[in-house]
Amino acid sequence: MRDPVSPEPALAFANVRAGYGPTVVLDDVSFAIPSGETTALLGRNGVGKTTLLVTAMGHTRLHAGSVRLGGAEIAADPIWRRARAGLGLVPQEREIFRSLTVAENLSVARRGGRWSVERVFDLFPRLAERRRNRGDELSGGEQQMLAIGRALMGSPTILLLDEPLEGLAPVIVDVLLAALRRLRESDALTMLLVEQHARLALELASRALVLDRGRLVHDGPSAALAADPDRLAGLIGVGAEPRHPEFLAEELAT
Ligand SMILES: Nc1ncnc2c1ncn2[C@@H]1O[C@H](COP(=O)(O)OP(=O)(O)O)[C@@H](O)[C@H]1O
Ligand SMILES: [Mg+2]
Repeated sequence: MRDPVSPEPALAFANVRAGYGPTVVLDDVSFAIPSGETTALLGRNGVGKTTLLVTAMGHTRLHAGSVRLGGAEIAADPIWRRARAGLGLVPQEREIFRSLTVAENLSVARRGGRWSVERVFDLFPRLAERRRNRGDELSGGEQQMLAIGRALMGSPTILLLDEPLEGLAPVIVDVLLAALRRLRESDALTMLLVEQHARLALELASRALVLDRGRLVHDGPSAALAADPDRLAGLIGVGAEPRHPEFLAEELAT
């Protein structure tokens, strides 16, 4: 029986087994993401974080289990139907159109919901300044803002973000974090955030999931994990903090 006082989780996996063709990457993964909250998804490289996000979106082969969005089973739905039902993905590779302008990238993603090009410009004033620049003329940070803006143009109820801070200069990381906070607070947007910057992710999120080799090894309040560095290091590895690799070259060149 359904509990009448607690709303359905925004997104829930039950015993999900999924991967690429016959290859199984996620095994017996179960979790429920509360509506209106931000959940961090942490784990070492190659453990299946991206696979989990793209499995929610419908890009992998589901071998077993259930995927529910706001209580409705979506495991058999095609990608477009999941997007229409409220799932939005900011992919790890950003995947903006390099030959289209910023404004064009946003308007082609418009689905006629709450979000408009002007609203994205209000969230990221830098994109407004760059509205006539093409995708391939943007810095890494601007591309990331555009990738988030594009996902928002679909007016999602859940935003899946795959390492949005990866490789960016600290000053740009701050701009993106402020935008994510604003989405969480003013829009009550539910977010599932994959991040290598574990501490930043735990600060932003109220809950944390940790994956290890395709299995969920932790699910709990983020504050408890943030307050227990030894446990965190045990789960995601010592030195799991960010590399800021080519940020100087990338951001200062533009
Ligand atoms: N398209 C694919 N085809 C086959 N195997 C893949 C594909 N993408 C990722 N994998 C494998 O799935 C595992 C998990 O990868 P991924 O989900 O990208 O991990 P993470 O995002 O945590 O770094 C890795 O072993 C990776 O090699
Ligand atoms: Mg990944």
